[in-house]
Amino acid sequence: MTIDYVEAQNAWILTTRQTSYVLRVAAPDNWLQHLYWGQKLPRNEDYFAPGMIAPPPVSYSSPNTLVEEFGNQGLLKWREPAIRAIFDDRVRDTVLVYDSFRTGQSTTSLPELIVTMRDNFYPLKVHLHYQVVEDLDLIVRFVEVENTGSTPIRLEQLASAAWHLPVKAETETYRLTHLAGRWGSEFQVRHQQLSEGKTVLESRYGFTSPFANPWFALDGGYNQEYATEEYGSVWYGALAWSGNWKIVIETLISGRTSVVGGLNNFDFEWFLAPGETFTAPAFVAGYTAGGFGQASRNLHRYTLNYVLPRNHVNEVRPVLYNAWEVYTFDVNEQNQMALAEKAAKLGVELFVVDDGWFANGSYARNNDRAGLGDWEINRQKFPNGLKPLIDKVKELGMRFGIWVEPEMVNPQSELYQAHPDWVYHFPHRERTLQRNQLMLNLARADVAEYIFSMLDKLLGANDITFIKWDYNRSITEPGWPDAQPERQREVWVRHVQNLYDILQRLRERYPQVVFESCASGGGRADLGILHYTDQVWTSDNTDAWERLFIQEGYSLAYPIKTMMAWVTDAPNAVSKRSLPVTYRCHSAMSGVMSLGGNLLEWTQVELDETKRLVAEYKQIRQIIQEGELYRLSSPQTGFAAVQYVSRDQRESVVLAFLHSQKFLRSTPRLYLRGLDEKALYRVEGLEQPVSGAALAHIGLKVSLKLDFDSCLVELHRVN
Ligand code: DGJ
Repeated sequence: MTIDYVEAQNAWILTTRQTSYVLRVAAPDNWLQHLYWGQKLPRNEDYFAPGMIAPPPVSYSSPNTLVEEFGNQGLLKWREPAIRAIFDDRVRDTVLVYDSFRTGQSTTSLPELIVTMRDNFYPLKVHLHYQVVEDLDLIVRFVEVENTGSTPIRLEQLASAAWHLPVKAETETYRLTHLAGRWGSEFQVRHQQLSEGKTVLESRYGFTSPFANPWFALDGGYNQEYATEEYGSVWYGALAWSGNWKIVIETLISGRTSVVGGLNNFDFEWFLAPGETFTAPAFVAGYTAGGFGQASRNLHRYTLNYVLPRNHVNEVRPVLYNAWEVYTFDVNEQNQMALAEKAAKLGVELFVVDDGWFANGSYARNNDRAGLGDWEINRQKFPNGLKPLIDKVKELGMRFGIWVEPEMVNPQSELYQAHPDWVYHFPHRERTLQRNQLMLNLARADVAEYIFSMLDKLLGANDITFIKWDYNRSITEPGWPDAQPERQREVWVRHVQNLYDILQRLRERYPQVVFESCASGGGRADLGILHYTDQVWTSDNTDAWERLFIQEGYSLAYPIKTMMAWVTDAPNAVSKRSLPVTYRCHSAMSGVMSLGGNLLEWTQVELDETKRLVAEYKQIRQIIQEGELYRLSSPQTGFAAVQYVSRDQRESVVLAFLHSQKFLRSTPRLYLRGLDEKALYRVEGLEQPVSGAALAHIGLKVSLKLDFDSCLVELHRVN
């Protein structure tokens, strides 16, 4: 059973293949006590064995031993709370006690436990949802808060979940791994030994942001043993929210570490009218003894199986072409057609026109100072509309895609001139520009409707099957002066809810369209947006070497099928580094390979090699995009290697990258993972097939000699 109710203990045991998660109602006050999260134990009795677990406290004299499942009991507001509500009489104290439970199935067909808590005086109910992903050792949690009374309740803080790790000795702590970054260097992997106190990962920018990503991993658990890629205990999770988010990792002097995460309480308020329910986003987490590699494979599979939009999840992602690095805003019918011809010859399947195609007259989008908001096709650049280009692209055997940034407006636009009140602003305050643009107040129903109908018109009038949805600034002056005063701080959440809603409606009306999430690169990558978009523009940094670091971090949390990677020019537009074309292709082939360079100026060698590798990529992309990922060697070491294994273990691909030659050292052996040890594999470059065991234990020898040397090795099972 994945969900067991143990009546004698008034407890629930959630069981996955390798793990269990245990909570119970604690007497005498009927609060909810967390008991256990980790390796599954053979006997259920052990979860409740007297002396093994902390007894429910009868007094609050030692509050640090109290492990509250969804914290906010009595005096315990010293710790990061999971909920803070204010009742109509201004009482700011929430005392949640157990009410009832039920089990069932989630909308995604997962077994689900719902434990309902209620305030012991006020008309507030909190429904804690637990969905059990048995085969992936994950638990998906979220909460619904319900006002069952006749007066309003104001929410000031609401987490999706609190996760509690096994207690450690006072002198020992967990190690936190998280992702930090900025424009051009998203998803950088950071490690930090925790100490008593809080570590806060968050965004207050209004979107997920490149600065931190809502994913965490904790290791160093039992006896201070650190995990590696393949071995060791890791507790990890990811939050499905694309707005202001917060994950607080708190360690107490008692040795207890908890992770509380969900909506950021910064400037947050939600007005819960009588009868209303508010739902917090999902927070998925798991425990594995299989290191960071298994943790990310579990999250990848979860995202593929349950998160990504269903209608395109089983298709391999096409090789696309995008000329942003070539022309920036100077796109026109002629130059796009010329590139489309070149791209088609190299095997490109989807041709995308980036920024610059819209707005007219003095607001024409010729740079980032004007035009956002005026989504009419620019008549100088495309005198006959998009049709001639789309027809040409289709004639060449490709599909057509286009860039938009619907949430934004330049003051230099007809839209802003007509609706200056449609942007976030405060009266008497200057409206801060970023990239010369302001942000539309998507919390407003009329703005949301405008954005939907603009895109509806664009998609309805043109044969477009791909949208790159960009977002290039943070929210400042988050004011909504026209709203009721008690609703004004809801903008942070309503913006994201309405964004999701627009995407959902568009997907329903245009199921053929694939959506890409972009925010100046990888600034909006999270399990929330990935429910509505099919892939992510990983970074504007397309330097193939620096990209390996970005891709390593991205792959800790998100699946390869969503990780876009373009082959661009040498020298690179951002880093000015010139890398060999093979290396550039191999780096992009580690994700969803696409092209973004100036093909009109590439040498014949570059064109031939790219054509060859695009063709090879198409042969193996299913393994890369849908297989299991093993990070064999980190780019941090100067020698990077990744391996992908098809789910049936019949095919595998290895990509390896040397940064620079040193002392004529030979390349380290690659001890392959995930193969069937008993099976024989034909390995490119080897005369005879060898066993999976040999590849795992003798290792694969690749010979990389030069600076920025790289190789790709295919393996196919022969028996
Ligand atoms: C930022 C994106 O990351 C780029 O790829 C490009 O689309 C520009 N915006 C266009 O303004």
